Amino acid sequence: MDQTALMLLLCLCSSALSDELRLVAGRSRCGGRLEKKNLGDWEPVKEWNWNFTSAAGACRQLHCGSVVSSRRDKDDNVEIICSDSVRLVQGTNRCSGRLEVKTNQSWSSVCEKDFDLQDAEVVCREIGCGPPSVHQGALYGEAEAPVGSREFLCEGSESALLNCSSRKSSGRNSCSPGQAVGLTCSDQDDIRLVGEASRCAGRLEMIYQEEWRPVDVWDSYWTMNSAAAVCAELDCGSAVSARNSEEASERPVWFIFPDCLQSGSALKNCLPCDATSDQSHQLICSGLLVEPLIFLSSSTDGVSTGRKQGSELLIGSHFSIICSIRPQYDGGSFQLIFSTSNYTQNQTLPAVNHSALFLFSAAGHAHQGTYRCVYHVYVFSYNFSSISQPLNLTVSGKLMESIRKSSASVSAFLTALIIRLVVVLLGMLGPVLVLYFKARRNQKSGPENNHHDEGSRAEGSLEEETAV
Ligand SMILES: *[C@@H]1O[C@H](CO)[C@@H](O)[C@H](O)[C@H]1NC(C)=O
Ligand SMILES: *[C@@H]1O[C@H](CO)[C@@H](O)[C@H](O)[C@H]1NC(C)=O
Ligand SMILES: *[C@@H]1O[C@H](CO)[C@@H](O)[C@H](O)[C@H]1NC(C)=O
Ligand SMILES: *[C@@H]1O[C@H](CO)[C@@H](O)[C@H](O)[C@H]1NC(C)=O
Ligand SMILES: *[C@@H]1O[C@H](CO)[C@@H](O)[C@H](O)[C@H]1NC(C)=O
Ligand SMILES: *[C@@H]1O[C@H](CO)[C@@H](O)[C@H](O)[C@H]1NC(C)=O
Repeated sequence: MDQTALMLLLCLCSSALSDELRLVAGRSRCGGRLEKKNLGDWEPVKEWNWNFTSAAGACRQLHCGSVVSSRRDKDDNVEIICSDSVRLVQGTNRCSGRLEVKTNQSWSSVCEKDFDLQDAEVVCREIGCGPPSVHQGALYGEAEAPVGSREFLCEGSESALLNCSSRKSSGRNSCSPGQAVGLTCSDQDDIRLVGEASRCAGRLEMIYQEEWRPVDVWDSYWTMNSAAAVCAELDCGSAVSARNSEEASERPVWFIFPDCLQSGSALKNCLPCDATSDQSHQLICSGLLVEPLIFLSSSTDGVSTGRKQGSELLIGSHFSIICSIRPQYDGGSFQLIFSTSNYTQNQTLPAVNHSALFLFSAAGHAHQGTYRCVYHVYVFSYNFSSISQPLNLTVSGKLMESIRKSSASVSAFLTALIIRLVVVLLGMLGPVLVLYFKARRNQKSGPENNHHDEGSRAEGSLEEETAV
């Protein structure tokens, strides 16, 4: 949004607190197009110094409640909707504070015992916030609820607190100052970054009144600090870059008043103004990458993820550590960091298909320690990295025990095998021996040397076989 457009918008979205104000053409006297009286004539307000405080001021000046919304209609007029007879005061944002109800043209607190969760639901809805999360006395300053105030009997679905049935408060003088209702409604607004492979990068959007739109803030007010606040709000670390981009055409945006950002308020607590613009804000936060996963794969246990209690390997088993990351960006590398109490070492492999395999031969006590995968990638002209959960590896000597156990069964098997072999061999040896003795008898009775040689050769080959 350029400066002229901004001035126009600010003029259109503005109010002058010193002037006589009114809201026209709305559903009630607390909602509609904002006008001020100028030399006897009503005209749309023109005020440079518009901000959310001013909107709240306009509602107050009109003896209405809190600002529920502000928008610009098709004829470029500003509409403000204030709640009619409820407001939250002294809160940290527009959706929290001490509850005040207007009765008979004056505002007063409400006694805790006259107010329940259903009543809170109605109030939160009426001021355009999400459902109540906390309601409790003296959260937002103390105030004395008037004696003889009303007890609200809402069903929860009413659109306004004064639509609920009520009855005269039962307790007399029993509402002490510390029991004035303080209310926290959840924020209905939320923000997100869209258009990139990560939830921590992209175009800034905001949902308001159930509609997602790009956010527009006047460029010179959109600083790295604002970007840092958004990254923090999204739990995405710190801001790496923030730039403004121009879209091909104008489209509906939520325009954020600069004062809300300057006051350090979270963006989602800023009340947006309905506008159109071709500007958008592109952000990149440091928490761009998702967390990589770490797996242990071993010849004995198969693949397992790092468990809280740690992973155990048998001495001598082959193992590998697999690092992998949900596909976001191509390329990058995995660094495997191994640490013990007195020693740290690392190795790096390129990421192939978003994973890397670190192979280890026979596990020994030197492999005991903590392993972590760190994924590194260069995108958007910056280096990013993210680290996995630790995998604690212990190597135990249980293998020897299992070898002993299994060797017992192996020797039993071998014994059975040898017995069978001997039986078979004896069976084969029998006819040969018969031949041998026959041959010896023949040798004694006649000269048949050739026969003898063949017999001894057969014997020799059998001896070899037995030895095997
Ligand atoms: C409203 O206020 C007026 C004047 O202050 C008073 O006369 C009237 O009784 C009040 N009404 C109620 C319902 O309290
Ligand atoms: C609330 O009261 C207003 C009049 O004060 C009425 O127009 C509206 O329909 C009521 N809403 C509900 C939900 O009762
Ligand atoms: C809001 O605007 C008013 C004038 O309308 C000004 O006095 C006040 O300082 C502004 N607040 C912030 C936080 O900019
Ligand atoms: C680390 O400490 C252990 C005993 O605490 C020792 O056996 C080992 O040699 C040390 N390793 C290194 C690299 O200093
Ligand atoms: C990784 O190892 C190299 C040397 O091999 C060392 O310079 C570097 O500091 C190590 N990095 C980490 C994070 O331990
Ligand atoms: C990467 O994954 C794809 C699909 O899962 C597969 O076809 C391809 O062979 C893999 N490449 C490597 C180098 O493992």
